[in-house]
Amino acid sequence: MAKANRKLLDDEAIQVKRFEINELFTPSTPVTTRELFAGRAGQLMRIMDAIAERGRHVILYGERGVGKTSLARIVQFMIPSQTRRIKYIRIQAYPEDTYTSLFKNIFRSMSFRHPGDDDGPIYNVADQYPGSITPADFVREMSGFSESEIPVIVIDEFNEVRDPDARNVIANTIKALSDDGVNVTLIIVGVADDVSDLIKEHASIQRCTEEIPMPRMDTKELRDVLDVRLKQLDFSIAGDAAWKIINLAKGLPAYVHGLGKHACLQAIEDGGQLHIAEKHVDGAITALIAATERSFKDAYHSATRSNQPGNLLRQALTACALAKPDDDGGFFTPTSVKEPLSAILGRQIEIANFQNHLQAFIDHARGAVLQRRGEPRAYRFRFAQPAMQPYVIMRGITEGLIDEEAKRVLSHPEQPDLFEVGAAYAALPIKKG
Ligand SMILES: Nc1ncnc2c1ncn2[C@@H]1O[C@H](COP(=O)(O)OP(=O)(O)O)[C@@H](O)[C@H]1O
Ligand SMILES: [Mg+2]
Repeated sequence: MAKANRKLLDDEAIQVKRFEINELFTPSTPVTTRELFAGRAGQLMRIMDAIAERGRHVILYGERGVGKTSLARIVQFMIPSQTRRIKYIRIQAYPEDTYTSLFKNIFRSMSFRHPGDDDGPIYNVADQYPGSITPADFVREMSGFSESEIPVIVIDEFNEVRDPDARNVIANTIKALSDDGVNVTLIIVGVADDVSDLIKEHASIQRCTEEIPMPRMDTKELRDVLDVRLKQLDFSIAGDAAWKIINLAKGLPAYVHGLGKHACLQAIEDGGQLHIAEKHVDGAITALIAATERSFKDAYHSATRSNQPGNLLRQALTACALAKPDDDGGFFTPTSVKEPLSAILGRQIEIANFQNHLQAFIDHARGAVLQRRGEPRAYRFRFAQPAMQPYVIMRGITEGLIDEEAKRVLSHPEQPDLFEVGAAYAALPIKKG
């Protein structure tokens, strides 16, 4: 294990360190610098290949919070460009957007001078289109980039767009760009389980697009998120403390940021320490729960409220959050809830004992904290909001639903079974060095 940093900070140094901690951990904003971006090598390589190949475009999709926006932003710093200039434009889509409003937003970031008039006035491309914009207009403007430029255009949160026309025409637009061999790469980003949820006509553009699913982070990537920041801050961390943060995050980097930040703050408040012990992570869990958005607390409350004393809704929801998913979409079966629920209640539990609870969790009157898929007898469930899952586990910890023994399992890589999330979360080797 890495050597523990035994240095202690004085009051003034604590203030400085606190500022740096808050800067480096960004639980609610995408990563914008290359140094702080962890993992995602495979996805990044596929995007780079698409950028390099003329006529190839990208569709990047996955669950909310897995790091799509961060990846789409970091791309601009990864393109090797000794001789050519990168022209990176990123827009965010909103529910009320139309084809015209989306592409006008892109045009707004583009300006030009009349050829041969190097000192002349600068025009904005958007101003040339007071009316509506068609795919042909877009392709024409995109053809205007010079060969010394590498234009990359990102449309983020494309899933938000409601206008069916805008959603349909995007496939044609990609096709037209590709057919014309235009020197620009379009990257469409959105929340979706399946590429066809994001772009209906995707089959027609498959040969000119790189369809990249963005999974939750694996253990190593999560560990990297934590390590680069701790290193910059000159913090060390105990192996079980790191494991606990990573195991709780369930593949969602925002929780590594949130828990990492609060664990650092707990450590410096604990006598100016620069070493994170497991107790600091426990403190971080409490602090993070307290600081969590109202909407999560409300969702938890609606899902578990009951006027029947002794009801087991909270225990059942906690067990669902701990259930081992059977794929990378986060779905679990009722069978997989049996083991964690039995561990929580300290007695053998059968599906019949919590069937009603699952029913309650998909009930819209209770906020539908879970989604259900599949056929009766083969139902699968998952948290409607991925970020709810770690929240529910942490609530279970702070409310004492998960006992000491179960908590111990949580912080021990050699017995990750009860709390494991799929194969990617296999035993974490604690870094030497
Ligand atoms: N590669 C990464 N390295 C470190 N942190 C990341 C990485 N990707 C995402 N994050 C963090 O995870 C959270 C969610 O990232 P974001 O890019 O907004 O996800 P999405 O767009 O998929 O919802 C943010 O707090 C962000 O800082
Ligand atoms: Mg995003």
